[in-house]
Amino acid sequence: MPLLGVNIDHVATVRQARYRQGPGGGLGYGEPDVVHAAFEAQLGGADCITAHLREDRRHVVDRDIELLRQTVSVKFNLEMAGTDEMATLARRLRVHQATLVPEGRAEVTTEGGLDVAANPERWKWLVAGLHEGHVTASAFIDPDERQIDAAKRAGFDACEIHTGRYANHFHKTGGDFHHPDLAKEFAALRSAAKAVADRGMRFNVGHALNYVNVAPVAGLPGVGELHIGHSIVARAVFVGLRQACAEMKALIGATGR
Ligand code: PXP
Repeated sequence: MPLLGVNIDHVATVRQARYRQGPGGGLGYGEPDVVHAAFEAQLGGADCITAHLREDRRHVVDRDIELLRQTVSVKFNLEMAGTDEMATLARRLRVHQATLVPEGRAEVTTEGGLDVAANPERWKWLVAGLHEGHVTASAFIDPDERQIDAAKRAGFDACEIHTGRYANHFHKTGGDFHHPDLAKEFAALRSAAKAVADRGMRFNVGHALNYVNVAPVAGLPGVGELHIGHSIVARAVFVGLRQACAEMKALIGATGR
């Protein structure tokens, strides 16, 4: 069964809307607390907890990462930009997995995938450093064979394939898999699944997955982890995070694989 990675950044976004005063986005004081969120997510069946420490500390702050690393019992995945500061943190805390993402100050959330192909040597060096610290390295990339090849050359252990375009087309076409636009995006994910597996890396997916569009993606051959944030935290407003995670987990598990 594919694993559910729950991204709890948006819990911190709510907290920071009220309590962001202080250096580095504040001290992580106030509610809702991300440590509590991670606990509830695990009770709801989360197999992995993800948090993104952004350069501008707009949601998750340093204290959150320290405490999450001490308290999360399942896999802890640090989403991070490819900077020395973040690589040093990942190694010091020995996070289980670091997912490398591009980071733009103006973006609302991570937009495109990482361009590993543009500078493979830089990534090779960064990945080697993570491996020295016993951290699994994952590249968040578009479903593009050139990027998958580059991720392999750089030594990444896993590719998290960006599902944003699939999700957009799912929404635009009302989930009509006969529509050429959605069929094309889904075929791109399927090809990426094969390309990643053929190169001996783990195939993960994420971005803009929700309760409606997740099942076909969870049914792709070889999918390891589904990384989901916004839709789960949004659902939690109505039913609580534990149940929101359990509902997503049930959808992922109902793929018949
Ligand atoms: N995976 C990665 C690499 C991301 O950057 C994000 C967004 O923070 C997600 C998954 C989760 O995306 P969403 O919040 O749209 O579910």
